[in-house]
Amino acid sequence: MAVNIYSIPWWKKTTVYQIYPRSFYDGNGDGIGDLPGIISKLDYIKESGFETIWFSPFYDSPQRDFGYDIRDYRNVAPEYGTLHDAEKLIEEIHNRDMKIVMDMILNHTSDEHPWFVESRKNRENPKRDWYIWRDGKKPNGKAPPNNWLSQTGGSGWHYDPSTDQWYWAAFLPFQPDLNFRNPAVQEEMLEIMRFWLDKGVDGFRLDILGSLFEDADFRDNPFKFKLLPSDSDQGMLFRSSEMTINHPDTIAFTKRLRELTDEYTPTRFMVGEVFGSYQSIRAFCGTPEAPGIHSVFQFKTFETPFSYEGFLRLLQESERWFPDPYMPTWVFSNHDRTRRITILKNDVRKAKLNAMFQLTVRGIPYIYYGEEIGMRQVDIPFEKAQDGLVSKFLKYPKWMIALLQKLTGGAINRDGCRTPMQWSSSLNAGFINNIKNPTITPWLPVDLEYKKINVEETKRDPDSIWHCYHRLLELRKKYPALAIGTMNIFAPGILPKNVLGYKRSTIVNGKEQKIYVFLNFSKKEVTFSSPIHTPKILSSTTVLTVPIKKDEITLTPWEGIVVHK
Ligand code: NOJ
Repeated sequence: MAVNIYSIPWWKKTTVYQIYPRSFYDGNGDGIGDLPGIISKLDYIKESGFETIWFSPFYDSPQRDFGYDIRDYRNVAPEYGTLHDAEKLIEEIHNRDMKIVMDMILNHTSDEHPWFVESRKNRENPKRDWYIWRDGKKPNGKAPPNNWLSQTGGSGWHYDPSTDQWYWAAFLPFQPDLNFRNPAVQEEMLEIMRFWLDKGVDGFRLDILGSLFEDADFRDNPFKFKLLPSDSDQGMLFRSSEMTINHPDTIAFTKRLRELTDEYTPTRFMVGEVFGSYQSIRAFCGTPEAPGIHSVFQFKTFETPFSYEGFLRLLQESERWFPDPYMPTWVFSNHDRTRRITILKNDVRKAKLNAMFQLTVRGIPYIYYGEEIGMRQVDIPFEKAQDGLVSKFLKYPKWMIALLQKLTGGAINRDGCRTPMQWSSSLNAGFINNIKNPTITPWLPVDLEYKKINVEETKRDPDSIWHCYHRLLELRKKYPALAIGTMNIFAPGILPKNVLGYKRSTIVNGKEQKIYVFLNFSKKEVTFSSPIHTPKILSSTTVLTVPIKKDEITLTPWEGIVVHK
């Protein structure tokens, strides 16, 4: 059946660039990134080829979890700017024909939010039931109400002596969970989303969405033989997470979220941060007849080795669980994880191959700021860490923290992936505009390699990682098959060992557009006879690619190519 590529909603064919506002560009010279700074750099994002920008939160916040602890959902943190700046940001993004997706933290607020300040005052307070309060275990109530763990380890219950009760926090103690079983909370959170939708934002990334509802009877999580949490199973410390994560009532609530966004034209969009098996995360998207949110992050990528077998499995599973009309997502870096190029041992060839995979398979790619220029993880010692999560672990011996940091993919001290964007080889990597006071330094140190790894440098070198991203992003716009086409994977054995190949195709103006991708997941050069006649190279991960002769394709080590007839 012919598909009208123009009637496909924008979010299905877009590419997303994630900005961590604190670290993108400091427009006012105080060492902290801000909205006017970001506005001044929008042309760079457009020029790179990205189509949508997702912003980590810039709402008013005490910043103990850098904005994931909100004090006022309808305002902007003063260090980032004003509400007027946010409106200007939305407008300027739209002026450039791009979309804007905001982070929305429904699950919890800051403990400094006026609702929580009220809620903890006394048991009779009208806001008491906006959060989750329980008596402790009998006989004297000095033990947590049940065995539920927070996602950061340890009990998620926190004792409040003034009212002699415990409140629940799925993440850090200063982020109390809202009580989604209270209809007033549901209404208010939907109103907040409406506030931003009315301002023109095109969608939301929904923070720890799977944690909205817990078991209504507060039953213990059953025993599970599992020590550490993983992306596909949040059970840990020998407890499952079934009473606290991905509860059926949370899945049901996604329908309300969808009803809200469906009220708006042009189409708005949501992507959920959820964890669990493919089956459990797909449930958040509902069914075509009864849709939930539009898409969910597929974090399996973080657990998968960079190999032919690993990436083949990723693709097969993604296609199996997210066939059309679902749309998969592809993410390899974000503000919580070790930077991708560091995982790939700073091998630029691998980073480019990773990019080609991400931008040519079926799905929505999410690229974390700086990933497109090969920014690396910066080693920031625990003692100097700014990340609020670290305080929870400081009581442990150093070797244990280091081990946990490794085992969790850098999720304990997240500073290292949040360092300032490297714009140029000038002071502080050009992160701070117009330094009036030379004692001002960026809020986190810049990577010492910034003179080599920065936007200006990378643009100068046609074989750089940025040019590779740029070529691929432009290719996706030119060839709809890459953005929205069907996907057929070459079965193992058809192509040489370690070469992953697939075909993307769609009908354009009555003709089938077919694009083939071949990725060499090995350190050996490989030559093979092309499965299609007279292929032409549309893009390669390297300018040093070997031209195709007599239908013979040669891929240099870790090279990927996109071809068509
Ligand atoms: C997930 C976010 O990605 C992370 O940065 C944040 O700390 C937690 N949710 C809590 O909101």
